[in-house]
Amino acid sequence: MDRRQESTLDVPFTDTNTQSPSIHLTYLTLDCGMKEDRYAFLAEWYDPTAALLRRYQLFYYPKDGSVEMFDVKNQRIFLRRTKYEDLHQEDLFIGNRVNVFSRQLNLIEYGDQYTANKLGSKKERTLAVVKPDVVTKIGDVLELIYSSNLIVTKAKMTKLTWSQAADFYMEHQTKPFFNNLVQFVSSGPVVAMELMGDEAISIWRRLLGPADSAVARREAPQSVRAQFGTDGIKNVGHGSDSLAAAARELEFFFPSKIGHGPSNTAIFTDCTCCIIKPHAISEGLTGKIVNSISSAGFEISALQMFNVDRANAEEFYEVYKGVVTEYPSMVTELCSGPCMVLEIHGTDTPKSFREFCGPADPEIARHLRPTTLRALYGKDKVKNAVHCTDLAEDGVLEVQYFFKILDG
Ligand code: CDP
Ligand code: MG
Repeated sequence: MDRRQESTLDVPFTDTNTQSPSIHLTYLTLDCGMKEDRYAFLAEWYDPTAALLRRYQLFYYPKDGSVEMFDVKNQRIFLRRTKYEDLHQEDLFIGNRVNVFSRQLNLIEYGDQYTANKLGSKKERTLAVVKPDVVTKIGDVLELIYSSNLIVTKAKMTKLTWSQAADFYMEHQTKPFFNNLVQFVSSGPVVAMELMGDEAISIWRRLLGPADSAVARREAPQSVRAQFGTDGIKNVGHGSDSLAAAARELEFFFPSKIGHGPSNTAIFTDCTCCIIKPHAISEGLTGKIVNSISSAGFEISALQMFNVDRANAEEFYEVYKGVVTEYPSMVTELCSGPCMVLEIHGTDTPKSFREFCGPADPEIARHLRPTTLRALYGKDKVKNAVHCTDLAEDGVLEVQYFFKILDG
């Protein structure tokens, strides 16, 4: 057996049958009588070896950033309370995927009322659409989103047909501006995103500013429409205006039935594949990285967020297996959370984009090529900010893997 693979799974999980006396309590009582905060979740993990979906209670102790897991079916401790620095309180919300010692857990429910009240009350999802006038400035918009304490949980570049845009804007069909609006929104690619955070609906609408860009410049000069908008129609973006609208509009772009939403914009010719890795996404670097890529003159012809599972990560990195010592850790990193995949288009891009990413090891990159993406945003050889296609002939294949196979 490969020792490296063992080491990535070398975690303090327990096989013992010890019951935890604290498991069913909402708080832990400390010696001094003070109560220690503890957040509880119901989490699912797909165990590929047994081909089973396993359920755990996941506990998070904000005081020292430790986690604990309890196996629901077998009624026993699965992971003793252990400090785990890679999990943060802001990652803990329903619907998110978190990585705990190489296991990708889906948080499916709050484990108790205390946690739901404390963490769940103000969390909202909303739909943001970046309209065709500023798709080339998507990096700037992403930076503003992240700096407003919102996170992007889904994203897809798509080009709507006239009738899709008319369906989306159905509520405005009697308005005088309807035809112009539908015409404009279907005139080029848009980027649809699910944003998540406390009061996400109103925060994103405030960030957008008034619908007319000229009014926005007068009344809300910091807003996105003031900064990047042209007029009333070319006004940068859309934001859902209520919980009900958000639910309906998110379903339009990201339907629960796979394969039924508007299609991606990948063109599968003269292209290379760039993956912004999960660690960089969770560090809030998405906007900065996309901005660097666009500012360097690369054309982003498709963009989508994916949650890659372990089997797909292994398959995608297959060529590195047994060749690159970091292969098992690369797989773990790729499936540790959402990643953003870009199709970069242009002749000779596999070579020029690879040079722009820099040496795989960020330490080396910082010495030799300090302006490259990995030098700027990478941490180590595995968490090196981005993956890029190595061989020119693999560009199309890697882009197809995500935009044809995984976006089925
Ligand atoms: O987008 P928002 O929710 O801020 O505004 P809306 O009133 O729901 O209108 C939808 C979109 O129609 C706006 O974003 C504008 O692009 C367009 N519109 C327009 O062109 N002229 C108007 N007088 C009002 C809206
Ligand atoms: Mg509206």
